[in-house]
Amino acid sequence: MKSGMHEQHQQLLNKLYKLRDGVKEARGLHDISALIEDVISYTRYHMVSEEQVMREHHYPQLAWHQERHEELLNDALSFKNKLEYLGEAEFLAWFNRWPLARLHTHIELADKQAEDYITHGKPK
Ligand SMILES: [Fe+2]
Ligand SMILES: [Fe+2]
Repeated sequence: MKSGMHEQHQQLLNKLYKLRDGVKEARGLHDISALIEDVISYTRYHMVSEEQVMREHHYPQLAWHQERHEELLNDALSFKNKLEYLGEAEFLAWFNRWPLARLHTHIELADKQAEDYITHGKPK
């Protein structure tokens, strides 16, 4: 997506990888909480920017896309509870299978579709 969305996706993924590594290395609760907060606030920031670009371009799938964002944000909001409830090993397994995979898919499919529309699909 234009206007820095690619960089934002990279940033967001980097933050998630840092969190994954933090859990893998069993850093303290304080450090891991900070990493989780960072993911949550960057996720919010990115979603607002991306939806703003879509709105400016009258992207027809905006409402559907917002619902997908809501789901991804709920994943991020549940990290602390999940970690406490599952323990580190189980959390990592869940984290790699769901939130990370889901975000990759979202960026590669839903965001890519919006990007294509914004770049090519708009009548001149
Ligand atoms: Fe998106
Ligand atoms: Fe995105």
